[in-house]
Amino acid sequence: MIKIAIDGPSGSGKSTLAKSLSAKLGFTYVDTGALYRSIALYMLENKIDLTDAGKISAALADISISLDYAADGTQHVYVNGTDVTAKIRSSEVSMAASRVSAFPVVRDFLLDTQRNIAKKSNVIMDGRDIGTVIFPDADVKIFLTAGNNSRAERRYAELIAKGENVTFEKVLTDITKRDHDDSSRAVAPAVAAPDAILIDNSDFTPEMTFAKALEIIESKIRLK
Ligand code: DC
Repeated sequence: MIKIAIDGPSGSGKSTLAKSLSAKLGFTYVDTGALYRSIALYMLENKIDLTDAGKISAALADISISLDYAADGTQHVYVNGTDVTAKIRSSEVSMAASRVSAFPVVRDFLLDTQRNIAKKSNVIMDGRDIGTVIFPDADVKIFLTAGNNSRAERRYAELIAKGENVTFEKVLTDITKRDHDDSSRAVAPAVAAPDAILIDNSDFTPEMTFAKALEIIESKIRLK
């Protein structure tokens, strides 16, 4: 099976890119951030202390996460059978996802879910540690990034479109903190794999990012 890893910080356009590539290539698309977000939502809704590894670990025993895909390729994520796809996109869940993702027990819990998908079909997986931890042997690794302002502008537009009451300054502060925490944590930090190809799309449209990534993928897969 072919594995394409797309890692990078929040707001770099990983999900948009991975989704359009999967439509073009016919691969299964997996947004792994949604898995961490689902766990975070469960912890928030059940008032689990996000600083307490023991309580988080105990709560994981009560969580079952599954994914499926709508006809247009949109990924849906379920926690104990309930579709939480829309609920996991709030700013509160974003920050909580970053916090829970730093616990090794949470990362271990999601490891097999991610690896098992790639046993059944070709995948394009986006996240933070796909090229470094989940699939160190991925056929193609892309690290997508953009300047803080560009990423915050994209995230702000997304949240406003969804009706969330936020200011640009708050989005910029949150995104900067989340990326600092994600990239400096002890386990599976969000860093580029040594063999990843970097794309800085600060000044790119989504179409330009797509064209660049497709060129990279086609050249890598042809070489194999
Ligand atoms: O990609 P996202 O913004 O939906 O991810 C939410 C959080 O989940 C992010 O701040 C860090 C964490 N995450 C992770 O640690 N590893 C992944 N593969 C994906 C996300």
